[in-house]
Amino acid sequence: MGIDVFSLTTAAYIVASLLFILSLAGLSRHESAKNGLTYGMVGMAVALVATVLLVIDRTHAENAVAIPLMIGAIVIGAAIGLWRAKIVEMTGMPELIALLHSFVGLAAVLIGWNGHLEGAQLALGTNPEDVATLLNIHDAEVAIGIFIGAVTFTGSIVANLKLSARMKSEPLMLPGKNFINIGALVAFVFLTAGYMGAEEGSTAQDALLLVLTVLALGLGWHLVASIGGGDMPVVVSMLNSYSGWAAAASGFLLNNDLLIVTGALVGSSGAYLSYIMCKAMNRSFISVIAGGFGIEAPSGDAKDYGEHREIQAEAAAELLAGASSVVITPGYGMAVAQAQYPVAELTAHLRKRGVEVRFGIHPVAGRLPGHMNVLLAEAKVPYDIVLEMDEINEDFGSTDVVLVIGANDTVNPAALDEPNSPIAGMPVLEVWNARDVIVFKRSMAPGYAGVQNPLFFKENSHMLFGDAKDRVEDIV
Ligand code: TAP
Repeated sequence: MGIDVFSLTTAAYIVASLLFILSLAGLSRHESAKNGLTYGMVGMAVALVATVLLVIDRTHAENAVAIPLMIGAIVIGAAIGLWRAKIVEMTGMPELIALLHSFVGLAAVLIGWNGHLEGAQLALGTNPEDVATLLNIHDAEVAIGIFIGAVTFTGSIVANLKLSARMKSEPLMLPGKNFINIGALVAFVFLTAGYMGAEEGSTAQDALLLVLTVLALGLGWHLVASIGGGDMPVVVSMLNSYSGWAAAASGFLLNNDLLIVTGALVGSSGAYLSYIMCKAMNRSFISVIAGGFGIEAPSGDAKDYGEHREIQAEAAAELLAGASSVVITPGYGMAVAQAQYPVAELTAHLRKRGVEVRFGIHPVAGRLPGHMNVLLAEAKVPYDIVLEMDEINEDFGSTDVVLVIGANDTVNPAALDEPNSPIAGMPVLEVWNARDVIVFKRSMAPGYAGVQNPLFFKENSHMLFGDAKDRVEDIV
C-alpha cells in the first residue's frame, strides 16, 4: 500500500497550525518571544514541505514541468528573502515588513484572477440544482479575495514609501476623501453583485472583475495615503491584519485549510494589535481603518513659537554634573545615529557619581514596537532603569535634567495643548515639566508626523545640535 499523501498533508497542516498558535502565544511576551519565533519557523517549514509534496502528488505527467518551476521559484524567493533579512537595518524593518505584506496582497489578487480564469472546479455528478449556488460561492470568493488583496497590495506599497521617506508622511487630504472611500465600498458591493450575476466566463464578467480590481487598487492607495505619519504604526499592523484576511480568502479559493487557518490567525491578531495600539495612542480605531475618517486637514498657518536656545556639549556636561536625577528619552534619532553605546557609557558614568538615571520609553518611539528597548538592551543598559511612559510621566516634575536623544513627536506638547494638531490626543512623554531639557538633534526639522514641536522653544529647553552619537561622546 502506497503512502496516502493527502492524509499525511492533513496531519502536517494540523501540526503546523498548532505551531503557529504556539508561536503567537510565545510572541506575546518578551521572555518567550525567541521560542515563539522558533515555533513559527518550524511550523512554516512543515507547512511548506507538506504543500510541495501535495502539489507533486497531484501534478499530472503532462504538467510535470510545473514542479521544477515551483521549486526554482521557492529557491529564488528564499535566497532573496535571506539576503534582504541579512542586510536590513533595524530602522528599515517596518518598511521591509510593509513590502512583504504587499506580496501577500499581490498573491491574493493573482490567485483570485486565476480562480476567475479557471472557473469553478465542480465535482463530477454535482446535482444541477447545486451548481448555481456553488458557482455563486466561487464568484464571491474571487471578488472578495481580489478586493482585500488589491487594497493590501497598494496600501502596503504606500506604507513602504512613507516609512522609507520616499513619500511625504503628511496625510493626503483630497476634498471629500470620506465620500471617496465610502463610494468605493458601495461600488465594490454593486460590482460583486454584477460579477456574480453575469454569465460565467463572459466578457462582461471579465470587465466587471477588471474594474473591481482597479477600484480596490486605488482604494488601498488612497486609504493609506490619507493617514498621517503619527498613525503609521497602527496602519502597519492594520495592513498586517488585511494581509491575513487576503491569505484566508485565497485559502477558500485554493481549498487549502492551512491557508484559511493561518490567514485567520494573522488577520485577527493583527486586528487586535491595531485595536490595542489605537487605545494606547488615544486614536479612534474606526478613523484609522477608514483612512483617517473624521480627521480634518490641519490649518496651514505655521505658528510662531519664538526663539530657541542652543547649548554646547561642555555646558550640557556641566548641567549633568550638577544634577541628582536624570531621565533619558530616546527616539528614532538615537537609532539612526547608533548612539545607544555612548548613551549607555554616559549612564554608567553618571550612576557611578551617584546620579539617579532612568529611561522613559514611549510606546511608538522609533519605527517599530520595542525598538528602543532592543537598542538599549544591546548596549547593556540595565532593564530595571528602563521604564514605560506611564511609569515615568508623573516623575518629570521632580527631575533635574532630561536628555531627549533623537526623539521628537513622542515628546511634543502640541499633542496635549493643540486640539487641531494631527497628533492631538496622543499621549506623550511630558519632559517639559523637568527643570532643564537638553534636546539632541541635527536641525530644527520636524519629526515623523511632520509637525513643529513647541518643546524646542520653551524657556527650559536647550538645543544641542549635531549627530546624537558625536554629541553624547563629547559629553562623556
Ligand atoms: P521622530 O518624531 O521621527 O523624530 C526623530 C528625530 O530624530 C528627528 O526630529 C530628527 O531630527 C532626529 N534625528 C534623526 N537622525 C538623527 C541623528 N543622527 N542624530 C540626532 N538626531 C537625529 O521620532 P520619535 O520621537 O521616536 O517618534 C516616532 C515617530 O515615528 C512617531 O511619529 C511614530 O508614530 C512614528 N512611527 C513609529 C513606529 C513604531 S511602531 N514605533 C512605526 C512607524 C512610525 P533632525 O533631522 O533635525 O536630526
